[in-house]
Amino acid sequence: MTEHFVKPNPVRTSRNRMKLGVFALNIDGGCTLTNAPERLRAANWNDNLAVAKTADKAGLELLLPVGRWRGYGGESNPMGVTLETYTWAAGLASVTDQIGLFTTSHLSTVNPVFAAKQAVTIDHISGGRFGLNMICGWYEAEMRMFNGAMMEHDTRYDFADEWIAIAKRAWEERDTFDYHGRFFNVSDVFSEPKPLNRPFLMNAGGSPRGKRFCAQHCDAAFLILKYMDGEEAVRAQIQSYRDLAAEFGRELQVWCYAYVVQADSVTEAERYLDYYVNQMGNDIACDNVTKEIGIQSGMFASTEDALRSRYHFKAGFAGLPLVGTPEMIASELERYSDLGLDGVCLTWLDYHAGINNFVRDVLPLMERRGLRERYDPVGKYVGVDEPLSLTA
Ligand SMILES: Cc1cc2nc3c(=O)[nH]c(=O)nc-3n(C[C@H](O)[C@H](O)[C@H](O)COP(=O)(O)O)c2cc1C
Repeated sequence: MTEHFVKPNPVRTSRNRMKLGVFALNIDGGCTLTNAPERLRAANWNDNLAVAKTADKAGLELLLPVGRWRGYGGESNPMGVTLETYTWAAGLASVTDQIGLFTTSHLSTVNPVFAAKQAVTIDHISGGRFGLNMICGWYEAEMRMFNGAMMEHDTRYDFADEWIAIAKRAWEERDTFDYHGRFFNVSDVFSEPKPLNRPFLMNAGGSPRGKRFCAQHCDAAFLILKYMDGEEAVRAQIQSYRDLAAEFGRELQVWCYAYVVQADSVTEAERYLDYYVNQMGNDIACDNVTKEIGIQSGMFASTEDALRSRYHFKAGFAGLPLVGTPEMIASELERYSDLGLDGVCLTWLDYHAGINNFVRDVLPLMERRGLRERYDPVGKYVGVDEPLSLTA
């Protein structure tokens, strides 16, 4: 029998001041709401493989999928075609070498004993590089597909508390266990094997209840940065997650996602943005998203607040704009690192060209600014991860 080859999960162990990931590779359109034909087609597995392998070989830390079960309408129906995230991560785990592989799981759609087992399987295939992005749902039409109705907002997080308590016990306890709560009633649970590394937990809650869940259970918070409100607002937003985690005696990484429009000149980048957002934008999908997000989540103070972000929703689901020359993009990444951000998940209209150009032109500039170390494929398994401390 061969020994397990345990690798660190770079999302936890990377020493880079600004960690990088690729977000939304598993969904049609990525994070854009546009009819532009160059947009990502998620059902093309070869495209997923090519982009994932480029990210892995460039030393990026994270591949993070979106959890989505139906689209937003209009001609291109963004996010209408999606690959399921546990099976997606399992597929990529066997063909990548060092990058962290996450699933994005709507907790109410999957039993925690079953999900914990899927997670361990991905952890073993990847040699310990698994992470779980836990989401509670905000898009009512897709949540109704599973259980007729969506739970009331804060109840979703009460449910999530029980869900993760069970999953953790399945990962950590050698003995069988029972759990009798408000939402779950499981008996004599047995779960082997155990994960090679402690699964890295992430959450993107924005409401007070969501933030508390994140602070209590997670290793990283995943945010839509309030960059339109200025630097101090961003600094305070990031710090608020760290402060809350500290109240529970914990530390948190803080990540966000960004849309990248890179070109040789800022005029060229803005022209391209205008093309896919203003000329080719999918306004019907944008109406549906902003209305639903404003109503169902605590992410925005109101529907009006969500509407303010319309343009940025079409450009990249209101992620951070990284628009301009490679130098401008590297400089923005440094600015946000200085404001306290640990990592950014990148998205593009055209993921192929986008990641190749970014790796070629922006990564070296980030290295020169001390944001990242040059990736060394020989010493690639950097740092010591956290093996689980198992209880009897
Ligand atoms: C960066 C980021 C990524 C998210 N990714 C997903 C996702 O993949 N699927 C999903 O249904 N919701 C996603 N959400 C929505 C959150 O899970 C959450 O519902 C939302 O931020 C509202 O927070 P609240 O539940 O605390 O009100 C994301 C939110 C953010 C900020």
